[in-house]
Amino acid sequence: MNFELTEEQVAVRDAARDFAQNVLKPGVIERDRDQIFPTEEVKQLGELGFMGIMVDAKYGGSGMDTISYVLAMEEISKVDASTSVVMSVNNSLVCYGLEAFGSEEQKQKYLTPLASGQKIGAFCLSEPEAGSDATSQRTTAIDMGDHYLVNGTKNWITNGGTASTYIVIAQTDVEKGHKGINALIIEKDMPGFVVGAKEDKLGIRGSDTHTLMFQDVKVPKENRLGEDGFGFKFAMKTLAGGRIGIAAQALGIAAGAYDLALAYSKERKTFGKEIYKHQAISFKLADMATQIECARLLVHKAASIKDAGENYDLASSMAKLYASEVAMTQTIEAVQIHGGYGFVKEYHVERMMRDAKITQIYEGTSEVQRIVISRSILKD
Ligand code: CAA
Repeated sequence: MNFELTEEQVAVRDAARDFAQNVLKPGVIERDRDQIFPTEEVKQLGELGFMGIMVDAKYGGSGMDTISYVLAMEEISKVDASTSVVMSVNNSLVCYGLEAFGSEEQKQKYLTPLASGQKIGAFCLSEPEAGSDATSQRTTAIDMGDHYLVNGTKNWITNGGTASTYIVIAQTDVEKGHKGINALIIEKDMPGFVVGAKEDKLGIRGSDTHTLMFQDVKVPKENRLGEDGFGFKFAMKTLAGGRIGIAAQALGIAAGAYDLALAYSKERKTFGKEIYKHQAISFKLADMATQIECARLLVHKAASIKDAGENYDLASSMAKLYASEVAMTQTIEAVQIHGGYGFVKEYHVERMMRDAKITQIYEGTSEVQRIVISRSILKD
């Protein structure tokens, strides 16, 4: 296996690292505390080409590979996981979904402004009663001939208030189960579409997460993605790529916390020496470094399988499951290494610990990843 990065991949990683350290870091504590969406920062990410990294240049994207995407996601997430989830949803769920399954007209109209960062997208699957059990959609999209009439509620939608373009999964024919589900492109200003309450969250507090309501929203037929009834498969295929992005986010959170813990262990002295000289701390750092490297290998493996055009469902679920577990356990360790300082906001690691938790929940809980993995390894 070749672990060497290309010049282009190194350049992307370095640009993301500079942006994270110089632009994101100064305001990250305040944005988290006051739940401030990173409007200006996301605009700059668009100018850097990071809102449509993998999208073809003819649709306003950067035309780069998935390895470049995960490198950028890791660097941004080392510093600010709220900003990286905005980036991840836009790249993996919205831009990818439109590019892979949209018509030429849909790509021209919707993908280009999203990939170039002029607009933000949201992906609307979860409902009050359909989280992990994604086939149980209650939102309806009734076929009215030339349009669908959409009614229902979506929950926990990342970019819910700031997006302009929403991909909404809804049930057209309940008798057909998952084969009666459609994916529709809904614009924010369509009558009957209401952005509801913003959630007050444990972590990723700089990103905006909303409930959305659809009350007799008329969606033109040309806004359906793929054939009639393709919506559930659309969601599953798109989420498989999204899980690589969230795995990279989890990896970044863990790696960012490790970097801080390592630096702190060289400054802080107890019992007459720097704490990294105590085996209690050096062994923790050894475990952190090893697990983070394992997570990185899984993330890069999933990204390279996707870049090779092969099926990446299993690899993406393995990467997300493992990286999110590492993010959670290793941010707790980073807080522990910092002792009392780790418990206050100024040292960043308490935020990382709170941010890590969501990586085990969104784009499929750890339990959902185990369903995907076990089905894949146990199938005949
Ligand atoms: N690619 C293509 N087709 C797929 C697929 C994939 N990756 N996965 C499933 N399918 C197909 C199956 O082949 C099947 O089709 P057929 O009947 O034609 O064979 C159909 O989809 C139904 O599949 P299952 O029977 O496996 O469906 P299930 O009801 O058992 O559910 C599940 C499986 C894996 C649990 C799925 O429901 C799931 O992934 N749930 C989690 C949903 C999720 O990730 N939600 C996150 C919301 S988005 C988000 O979080 C964004 C954000 O804000 C950051």
